[in-house]
Amino acid sequence: MACYALVPAAGGGSRMGSACPKQYLPLAGQPLIRHALATLCAVPAIARVFVVLAPDDQQWPGCQYLAAKLRVLRRGGATRAKSVANGLRAMDGVSDDDWVLVHDAARACLSVAHVEQLIRDVGDDPVGGILAVPVADTLKRARADGRIAATVPREGLWQAQTPQMFRRGMLLRALEAAPAVTDEASAIEALGLHPKLVAADATNLKVTYPLDLRLAEWILANRNEDER
Ligand code: C5P
Repeated sequence: MACYALVPAAGGGSRMGSACPKQYLPLAGQPLIRHALATLCAVPAIARVFVVLAPDDQQWPGCQYLAAKLRVLRRGGATRAKSVANGLRAMDGVSDDDWVLVHDAARACLSVAHVEQLIRDVGDDPVGGILAVPVADTLKRARADGRIAATVPREGLWQAQTPQMFRRGMLLRALEAAPAVTDEASAIEALGLHPKLVAADATNLKVTYPLDLRLAEWILANRNEDER
């Protein structure tokens, strides 16, 4: 079974509070999206990387140096799940049994080592799996007035990251049945299945707020050769 990557990048990134979609904000001298695309293209086990853009996207900066592996699909939808489902339908040359690693464009600090660990740990699992980190903080559920309603036991809780690795056919069926999910694993869980958790770390953060850009810049600048 071959492995492919699919990067939904059709969002506006409104929480960043910038006129430019966050995937195109400058990060370490490059549009943010180029970091994750370059990492995925550098993984030998990944045959091709598909990026899903909004149909009317005028700001895509192109990636000439990744052209051998990268394919652009202008099929973005109204939600992340719709962008992913549209991308899965449009990926040419990919069979239903092939693996697809769905990765958020906003996780710019993804490392080749983490991608290879995910592929290795999922192996030939019948369901698939995701990168994630165990929750370290004590969690509080808030009331509407900003006070604590309850403490949520953190035991057994993980924060989901991406890539999330599933077989194309199963993932498309799952997303068609559960179009409101915020990650692929939720759609697979709704089928009654249990994806694997593969431990990554906090460097694979999702750039969401302005401070995250500075953290991401620091991570990229301070990464050792063996952590790339
Ligand atoms: O907004 P959020 O950070 O959850 O978005 C996660 C990823 O999904 C981003 O890479 C974003 O560009 C993408 N997305 C998309 N289509 C949408 C909304 C978000 O491809 N309609």
